[in-house]
Amino acid sequence: MVLAEIETVLLDEARVQVGVAELARRISEDYQGRDLLLVGVLKGAVVFMADLSRALTVPHEVDFIATSSYGSATETSGVVRLLKDLDREIEGRHVVLVEDIVDSGLTLDYLLATLRPRRPASLEVCALLQKPDELRVEVPVRYKAFDIPSVFVVGYGLDYAERYRNLPYVGTLRREVYERSGGG
Ligand code: PRP
Repeated sequence: MVLAEIETVLLDEARVQVGVAELARRISEDYQGRDLLLVGVLKGAVVFMADLSRALTVPHEVDFIATSSYGSATETSGVVRLLKDLDREIEGRHVVLVEDIVDSGLTLDYLLATLRPRRPASLEVCALLQKPDELRVEVPVRYKAFDIPSVFVVGYGLDYAERYRNLPYVGTLRREVYERSGGG
């Protein structure tokens, strides 16, 4: 059942789960015998991170970091702030940053620049979605499931004004939803 506020489903639940399983398979293969730490970027990555972590067949730990760039608007402000740092040191660890979506790339660019000086053994990025046409800075995304067009999407961790993160699919919102809430 699709929520009434959703205009189009871009990726249904089955497709999302196939994408997650494929990423988990690749990461499990690449990190065999390595000390893997998944770092989820709050809050959007939470749903993806939970599924990805459970689909991995290699032992790993998880930690979270929080940034903010959007507020409740639908476009990035271009300024990234660190809201919550990691709980533990990452020196010598094999770190995979887990993101729901790469849009302008500014969040990841900021996070990679923040984490690299902490000297992890390796640092890679895993993102469920990317909007290739929105990229403002080049970011190395080793593991990616889907490229999507430049439309505002919600679901599977992605929100509009903090809602819709719980939807098991990725879709666009009906115009009325923005208009009713006065743009966020
Ligand atoms: C979203 C998303 C990424 C970032 C991507 O987070 O989860 O972290 O924007 O955009 P960028 O590539 O243009 O930087 P947001 O700041 O909306 O916070 P949230 O995860 O808490 O929803």
